[in-house]
Amino acid sequence: MKKVKLGNQLVNPIGLGTWHMGDSVATEKQEIAALQRGIELGATVIDTAEMYGEGNSEILVGKAIQAFNRKDLYLISKVYPWNASKTQLPISLEQTLQRLQTDYLDLYLLHWPGEIPLSETITAMEQAKAAGKIKAWGVSNFDVSAMQALFSLPNGENCQTNEVLYNLATRGIEFDLQPWQQQNHLPLIAYSPIAQGDTLGDELLQQPSLKKLAKKYQISIFQLLLAWSIRDGQTIAIPQSGNPQHVEENIKAQEIMLTAEDFAEIDKIFPKPNKKVPLAVL
Ligand SMILES: NC(=O)c1ccc[n+]([C@@H]2O[C@H](COP(=O)([O-])OP(=O)(O)OC[C@H]3O[C@@H](n4cnc5c(N)ncnc54)[C@H](OP(=O)(O)O)[C@@H]3O)[C@@H](O)[C@H]2O)c1
Repeated sequence: MKKVKLGNQLVNPIGLGTWHMGDSVATEKQEIAALQRGIELGATVIDTAEMYGEGNSEILVGKAIQAFNRKDLYLISKVYPWNASKTQLPISLEQTLQRLQTDYLDLYLLHWPGEIPLSETITAMEQAKAAGKIKAWGVSNFDVSAMQALFSLPNGENCQTNEVLYNLATRGIEFDLQPWQQQNHLPLIAYSPIAQGDTLGDELLQQPSLKKLAKKYQISIFQLLLAWSIRDGQTIAIPQSGNPQHVEENIKAQEIMLTAEDFAEIDKIFPKPNKKVPLAVL
């Protein structure tokens, strides 16, 4: 398994998503166990946001990480676009840190492009970095033109990642955004890498060729999807699961080495884009 450079750190290519976690007292114990199992297995990148359950996800992550050494973790959270101003971003960040019970984030993302000028958000992010509250900052749901606009601004190139929807059934970014990020040495964070447990209508679990490949390697189709998503060595996938067994299965996917023939077989069913497609978002 090849590690990925994210900010100034090398991390494993499978991390942990946390959307919809922390919303129910009934499932809290198992969700904490799932996150802790993931961390024990080296999935130290944990992705949350102030949006998720309006703070519930950050509170859950805060509880789960107390048993670990903070410096061994890579914590990501995201600010709402309307909170990404010079005055509001530090307030949102402080609340996020309190919910996570930590004093810094490894990475703070602008959740999606909004109305506040990017130059102002950059300034706020740089100030948070200078204050030691975040180690690095990045963006999410930016298409190529938004990335180009960002990189044209002072300090815009300090952006460390762009987190976008990416899975076998949603390959649009391979036409322009992924090559652009590769050229600019900007790692990609792939969200919904297993198409929300194949509930997005793509019927990935039913595909005979995926079934055949999964059988060949004695793996699940979800593991196949994850191994496929991180194949360029510059992508981190952040599958979400509140089930410790699923977490274990997902993390094992980073050890699977698919061949050029496998990729060619996959491309026949889910072809690479041959034209520009609008960025898919959830
Ligand atoms: N930046 C953004 O705008 C944005 C948008 C969407 C998501 N995200 C981030 O990306 C993360 C992942 O995306 P996602 O949550 O949308 O979808 P996902 O990770 O593609 O799928 C999550 C679903 O898959 C199920 N699952 C996970 N592993 C499984 C396995 N091995 N076998 C069977 N089912 C499995 C989970 O249920 P179980 O709990 O039962 O395992 C859950 O229902 C989010 O949690 C969030 O952190 C970011």
